Amino acid sequence: MALRFEVLGRFNRARAAQLTLPHFVCQTPLFMPVGTQGTIKGLTNDQLEEIGCQIILGNTYHLALRPTSELIDELGGLHKFMKWPRAMLTDSGGFQMVSLLHLADITEKGVTFQSPVDGKPMLLTPEESIQIQNRIGADIIMALDDVVKTTITGPRIEEAMYRTLRWIDRCISAHKRPNEQNLFGIVQGGLDPVLRDICVRGLVERNLPGYAIGGLAGGEDKDSFWRVVAQCTAALPEDKPRYVMGVGYPLDIVVCSALGADMYDCVYPTRTARFGTALVPEGVLKLKHQVMACDTRPIDPACGCMVCKNFSRAYIHCLVTKDAMGSQLLSYHNLYYMMKLSRDLHSSIVYGKFPEFVCTFLQKMFPEGE
Ligand code: GUN
Ligand code: ZN
Repeated sequence: MALRFEVLGRFNRARAAQLTLPHFVCQTPLFMPVGTQGTIKGLTNDQLEEIGCQIILGNTYHLALRPTSELIDELGGLHKFMKWPRAMLTDSGGFQMVSLLHLADITEKGVTFQSPVDGKPMLLTPEESIQIQNRIGADIIMALDDVVKTTITGPRIEEAMYRTLRWIDRCISAHKRPNEQNLFGIVQGGLDPVLRDICVRGLVERNLPGYAIGGLAGGEDKDSFWRVVAQCTAALPEDKPRYVMGVGYPLDIVVCSALGADMYDCVYPTRTARFGTALVPEGVLKLKHQVMACDTRPIDPACGCMVCKNFSRAYIHCLVTKDAMGSQLLSYHNLYYMMKLSRDLHSSIVYGKFPEFVCTFLQKMFPEGE
């Protein structure tokens, strides 16, 4: 195992912990920005460090196609290649192929897809996914899982869960760097509590360094989503990190943290920035809206970020309705907001103020009478 997970404080099921990884000591709950091609869109590495980003997520699928994992390996791993000194996590690739390319086909061998480079059929097996992730060299690597949308029902959900369990053993055998990289298993099973239970038990038996809850945030209602998270966190070990994949709405992060989850990732904060939307305590602020044109206030007067200290809504409105620079400023503010949310969750749990934090958060987001 190449990590240490020390719980520093709890409030009911919520926990604040210190997660020591080979490249960085992280505080949880934490949010991981997503970088697809070895970069977080719109921010430099220095800016990421400046806003307090502790760990970033890279995608095996994108990196394997370009610049290729062999080249990254030759150049000393992704940390060195992109000059990122802190922690990194790579996702296994299956989910990206299924969600991005509707042409992907899953069999017992692995995920077959058409290469976007030359259109030839390609196969990503659990062994290859791990080999690629071993070459990339992230602190945390993810098992290849069989992901299906939570909104579909029937035998396919069960098949995907059992296949995910069979594949975890192939991933464990293929993993050649267990002292430098932590392999996390992923709980699947859709919205079915019986299938989720079988999957959690199967993975926990394998005594992995950490566990993810997958197959969520795909269009199911909040009640079902939170119920699955509550069930999985209750069944996962207390002394290992728990990662809810693909979750990035601030409200979901607060709820899942209350349920005992520790880690999150999502493209949402940076993607919504590119559409001209800022994350604020009240919800969202649409900077493209005409009313912003002569609004001299910062995005969020209470925000301490570089953007809010220097620029008005009017200026950012002007940029987002014209060129690309506006989305960079919005990405900076949005990721700062996510990092601040992570820090506030951590310290409120450590100092016994979690209920107060949740109340204030919810009152701002859902003011009375609205
Ligand atoms: N990203 C968001 N959800 C998932 C999932 O279920 N599996 C994987 N591998 N990545 C994800
Ligand atoms: Zn700001």
